[in-house]
Amino acid sequence: MIALAGKTAIVTGASRGIGRAIAVALAREGVRLGLLSRSKPDIGGEFVACDLAELEQIPVAVQRLVERLGEVDYLVNNAGAFLESPVTEMKLADWERLMRVNLTAPFLVTREVLPRMIARRQGRIVNISSTASVQGHLHQSAYCASKHGLLGFGRSLAMELKPHNIHVYTLSPGGVDTDLIKGTYLAERLKGQPMIAPDDIAEMVIFLLRQPENIDLPELIVRRFDTK
Ligand SMILES: NC(=O)c1ccc[n+]([C@@H]2O[C@H](COP(=O)([O-])OP(=O)(O)OC[C@H]3O[C@@H](n4cnc5c(N)ncnc54)[C@H](OP(=O)(O)O)[C@@H]3O)[C@@H](O)[C@H]2O)c1
Repeated sequence: MIALAGKTAIVTGASRGIGRAIAVALAREGVRLGLLSRSKPDIGGEFVACDLAELEQIPVAVQRLVERLGEVDYLVNNAGAFLESPVTEMKLADWERLMRVNLTAPFLVTREVLPRMIARRQGRIVNISSTASVQGHLHQSAYCASKHGLLGFGRSLAMELKPHNIHVYTLSPGGVDTDLIKGTYLAERLKGQPMIAPDDIAEMVIFLLRQPENIDLPELIVRRFDTK
């Protein structure tokens, strides 16, 4: 197992939910954090405000974080949004915005950190996808398409980066207890059902980052285990 103390990580979307839990877990391991979201997380670490839907903000924001951190050992592409709509009612602007946040932003953030990782032959990238990357859901065509895309991006990126000794992981959780789907029809349907805790997903990220160099564990699907 690899010790994480003294390493650095950029985590997107750490102002709440799963990203916050991941950032807190990484900090507990002694990892120095660079955080990217619109609102400032209430945890320690370097923070640069960035709206990931505004793609032109991304390169500048990431480079500001890289300058402050020095090197970036880990990138966790966690930030994401949810959209629920039948296709016939979906606005192009909403579809495109979701794709920017969930798919294009991870590509752009990754592209910014990669040259240094490649030069150092060191780095690990964790993309937080969803079980929506491997199955369809009613009225979630945009969300599922974005998460299928993120899985495909991660699979191809892993092949591209293997010669550079960089690991790429796609972590795909089922329903997690956060505000992501708040106010939606889905939230109504899931009301009262047990969900995965954000801390449990954070532990999975730590588990992945601790894997020895010679272990390839590219994809992890995490669902709740219920006896019923
Ligand atoms: N909750 C679930 O059931 C579930 C299941 C599977 C996968 N996931 C995935 O897990 C990830 C985290 O979701 P969550 O459940 O923790 O959601 P959440 O509680 O709503 O948190 C989303 C995070 O993403 C950031 N974010 C959203 N839009 C952004 C934007 N335009 N620019 C910058 N940052 C933005 C938010 O920060 P700001 O608002 O401060 O910008 C926030 O920190 C997402 O990729 C989601 O798809 C969630």
